[in-house]
Amino acid sequence: MRQGEPAIRNISDTANWAAVYRAREADRPDALFRDPFARRLAGARGDQIFATMPDKDRHAWAWVMRTYLFDHFVAGQVKEGADMVVNLAAGLDARPYRMALPASLRWIEVDLPEILAYKEDVLRDEKPACVLERVRLDLSDVEARRALFEQLGRRARKALIITEGLLIYLSEDEVAALARDLSSPGAFQRWALDVVSPGLLRILQKQIGTQLSRASAPLKFGPGEGPGFFTPHGWRPSEVRSIAKTAVRTRRAPLLLRLLSFLPESNDRQGSRPWGGVCLMAKQGA
Ligand SMILES: C[S@@+](CC[C@H](N)C(=O)[O-])C[C@H]1O[C@@H](n2cnc3c(N)ncnc32)[C@H](O)[C@@H]1O
Repeated sequence: MRQGEPAIRNISDTANWAAVYRAREADRPDALFRDPFARRLAGARGDQIFATMPDKDRHAWAWVMRTYLFDHFVAGQVKEGADMVVNLAAGLDARPYRMALPASLRWIEVDLPEILAYKEDVLRDEKPACVLERVRLDLSDVEARRALFEQLGRRARKALIITEGLLIYLSEDEVAALARDLSSPGAFQRWALDVVSPGLLRILQKQIGTQLSRASAPLKFGPGEGPGFFTPHGWRPSEVRSIAKTAVRTRRAPLLLRLLSFLPESNDRQGSRPWGGVCLMAKQGA
C-alpha cells in the first residue's frame, strides 16, 4: 500500500476484504466451511483493509454466516438439478475449487477485469471441481449484461444466479433493473442474494460508510419491503434465512444476539430493526 493511499481504493478491493473472513474461518478448529484458497486470494491488500476496519472481529460472525448460507443454497440447488451457477460479482470466491460439485456443472464467474485477472493469476495452478468460465464484464453495462444473460440462458436448463455482497452497493432502481434482466432467460430459475433492512443499512453506513464512499462504493440498498422488494420485479422469496438466527443455530452468535433471538422474528419488512438475510428467490411462475 502506498503512503497516503486508502486501504480500499475501489469496489473490487472489497473482494479482498471478504476473502479475509473466509481465510480466518478456515483457521478455526470448528470451521463451518473451509476455504484453503482464501488466504492467498485475500493477499496483503486484504490484510491491510482488515486492519483499518473498526470492530472487525466483533462482526466476523455475520460474514461467516453469509458464506455459510450461500453454500447451503448452492449445495441445495445443485442437488435439485441446477446445471449452471452464474456468480455475478464473484470477486475472490473459490466455491468452484472448494465445494464438492458435479464435474459436469457449469460455473460462470462475472466480475470486473482487474479482479478476475488477479484471481486467475493466484489460482493458476489449481483445478476447479466443475467446468469454470470467467467473464470480464461491468454489470452496470445494461446492454452487455442482457446479451450475456441471454447467451448463458440458452446454454442452461436450470441455472442458479448468485449475487453475494453486490446488491448493497446498488440503488433500488439499479437492483430492480437487474432483477428484471435476470428474470428474462427461461433457464434462470433461482437467485440467491443477500439483503439488509433499512435499520442495518444505516448502522453499516455509520460504521464503514465513509471508507467505502471514499472508494466510490457507497452502501445504498436496504429496501423497506425486505425480500418482498423483488416480487414486482419477477422474483418471489422462496426461502429466507436470517443471518442472526443462523448464527444462534450454529453457536456463533455473540451474547447480545443470543438474548435478542428470543424475540419473535419475521422475515418480511424489518424497518429500523437491524436485520440481514440470505434469500433464495424463485422466478415468478417457475
Ligand atoms: C464485496 S465484493 C463480493 C465478492 C464475492 N461475491 C464475495 O462474496 O466474496 C463485491 C464485488 O462486486 C464486484 N462488482 C462491483 N460492481 C461491479 C460491476 N459493476 N460489475 C462487475 N462486478 C462488480 C467487485 O469487483 C467485487 O468483486
